[in-house]
Amino acid sequence: MCGIVGYVGTRRVIPIILEGLKKLEYRGYDSAGIVYLHEGRLVKYRSQGKLANLEEMLDSVRDVGSTIGLGHTRWATHGAPSVANAHPHGDCSGNLVVVHNGIIENYHSLREKLQAKGHVFTSETDTEVLAHLIEENLQGDLVLAVRQALEKVEGSFAIGVMWTGMPDVLIAARHHSPLVLGVGEKGGSFMASDIPALLPYTRRMIFLDDQELAVLRCEGVEVISLTTGARVEKEIKTINWDAGMAEKGGFKHFMLKEIYEQPQSIANTLAGRLDPETGIVSLPELGLSREEMQKIKRISLVACGTSWHAALVARYWLEKWAEIPVEVDVASEFRYRHLLLDSSVLVIPISQSGETADTLAGLRLARKLGAKVVSICNVVGSTMTRESDGTLYTHAGPEIGVASTKAFTSQLAALFLLTLYLGQERRKIAPDTLKQMVQALVDLPQVLESELPRLHKELNIIAETYSRSRDFLYLGRGCNFPIALEGALKLKEISYIHAEGYAAGEMKHGPIALIDRDMPVLALVPRDGVHDKVISNVEEVKARNGRIILLGTSGDRQLSRIAESVVLLPEVLEDLNPILYSIPLQLLAYQVAVLRGCDVDQPRNLAKSVTVE
Ligand code: AGP
Repeated sequence: MCGIVGYVGTRRVIPIILEGLKKLEYRGYDSAGIVYLHEGRLVKYRSQGKLANLEEMLDSVRDVGSTIGLGHTRWATHGAPSVANAHPHGDCSGNLVVVHNGIIENYHSLREKLQAKGHVFTSETDTEVLAHLIEENLQGDLVLAVRQALEKVEGSFAIGVMWTGMPDVLIAARHHSPLVLGVGEKGGSFMASDIPALLPYTRRMIFLDDQELAVLRCEGVEVISLTTGARVEKEIKTINWDAGMAEKGGFKHFMLKEIYEQPQSIANTLAGRLDPETGIVSLPELGLSREEMQKIKRISLVACGTSWHAALVARYWLEKWAEIPVEVDVASEFRYRHLLLDSSVLVIPISQSGETADTLAGLRLARKLGAKVVSICNVVGSTMTRESDGTLYTHAGPEIGVASTKAFTSQLAALFLLTLYLGQERRKIAPDTLKQMVQALVDLPQVLESELPRLHKELNIIAETYSRSRDFLYLGRGCNFPIALEGALKLKEISYIHAEGYAAGEMKHGPIALIDRDMPVLALVPRDGVHDKVISNVEEVKARNGRIILLGTSGDRQLSRIAESVVLLPEVLEDLNPILYSIPLQLLAYQVAVLRGCDVDQPRNLAKSVTVE
């Protein structure tokens, strides 16, 4: 997704924008650009590909004294990735520029009307329409012109606008795309698509809501409503992440750093929410009374990608321990079903970013139909959290690697907490059992901490053995079936190896035809209620000469008899295996991608935050 950075203040703007854009690289992009004001003129640089190309172009002007500017990384939606389509986009006069994240759905008809009035376009983008539309309305009052232009726009936008007529002002506005403002500790104002871009400069942030516009000056920020023009009082929130938290911290890649952070991120998810002494779980942030919890007839989990896999695991937990029927939907399908939702259904959207367009659309639809919505989300102040009745934050910290790791296991931890809480409040779990489960959950981060280094070494060896394979099959049963799906997704998204996850029992209904002596088949076989069933499925693979990798419980001797490679894991509470078994699968995907020379943190074609439908 596109990334925006803007600054107005007393410091040199070019380094601030470049550093900010680097912090947004995780969002995915294919071109980049910058604009700053110099001697009354707008100076624009744009390049295709990585930010390094833009940096090179800026080498000779880096020390220019300009203190106001905008930067952008573009992830192409309308028009190919090219210099001409890279942002910023300007109007006909060359005195006004716009950077934009989102999609202007009615750009085609707007463009035709503007062309009929004589406006000349130089790109294929939907964004350029905005620059000309503002120009068309501009009669001295930039704020009014932006408001009038945005009134005509259908779709989503986070924008930054700069005009030579107001040389000390930046305009920001948003609707259905993320934008955060930074208030400098010693003056200066910032805007960015995400918090990490601003953390080196300030922790004081303002989260713009939909249909809001901000006027940024060196002296501060003023927010007004796009629709009424009235001033809106906004709270300045202090973000406790320091800039170091968003850096690689000595690891080669963000993904590896984030894999290693999981003992801590899971502990953070649990912190303050359970008491091992009493076995009591408290989640007041859900905003659900005991009576409301008892009345829930159904839970509907809605998410995309990895977050959807977390939802699939949670179905097993919630049905077993809270005794509530659960349905799970991929968000892009949910919204097109004939939904039977009302106030007896609890809808839980799950998202790391809180900005995923499909999940947000599902959330909005659910609320419209009268369902109660409690989201599970990692990003404080994101759109999802602001539009839900309650939010269970995962507190995993910023996740920069495009492939989700720590956010996923924190989602699982949060969903397990939720399960225990609902089971407790609905009186479905006996107090003694609950206490044991709470203890097992509290102990889990320590288990992960002590296993990680050994697992890392073992999975490096396994990666070496299989990294040249063309296809992979991942098998699991019960609550580990979604972990097989997740393992396969991790491998394909960062190493580009074709991988499929399957319910182990379903393999004989089709994929078994693929098995030959070149095909690695990885199966999850912890010692649990379905262990023997999975072993039978693995025997079917062995009979067809497949190359078998087994992940199972320490002491399970039969694994090495069947498999070419075995990874042993400690015994934990059966329900927590999905969290534990995720770790070796993440390490395997990571190391295979490294061995194949892939761009681990920014895999091709992927974006961290998918803000288009
Ligand atoms: C995760 O590795 C993926 N890159 C992707 O599937 C992701 O989980 C999905 O886009 C949903 O994102 P969200 O959790 O921010 O909503």
